[in-house]
Amino acid sequence: MAFTYVVWNPRLAVGNSVIDYDHQMLINLTNEACARVLAGDASAEEITLVFDRLVEYAHRHFAREEELFRKAEKYPAEAKQRHVTIHRELERLLGEIAVKLTHDPSLIALPAFSLFLQNWLIQHIQKYDFGYRHLL
Ligand SMILES: [Fe+2]
Ligand SMILES: [Fe+2]
Repeated sequence: MAFTYVVWNPRLAVGNSVIDYDHQMLINLTNEACARVLAGDASAEEITLVFDRLVEYAHRHFAREEELFRKAEKYPAEAKQRHVTIHRELERLLGEIAVKLTHDPSLIALPAFSLFLQNWLIQHIQKYDFGYRHLL
């Protein structure tokens, strides 16, 4: 299956250097996870390892981001709550994918998996992170 790397670009910037660095790291880890699985020669242990890194980094990023936007007074409470809920949902989905891929790496060839892994971050940044962009 053809694999296209997702690339961070300045249009994805939220204007906070810590958060923007996190997003670049997450994109790199997502690319690495996809590439590793699609190479077809990775062991279950390697796949688990690469996904653990992604899940772990996502977890730490969400915590950092939530701490920041909770302090943003102009970011509405409702939006904060929804954003946190979406983070928990993404963590659950990432964990689920990691478990499934460990058992059957060929699953990533399914459009739902590859599309999710390639787009989850970009779409989240544009749809939710941009919501606090000018309010930090
Ligand atoms: Fe977010
Ligand atoms: Fe984010």
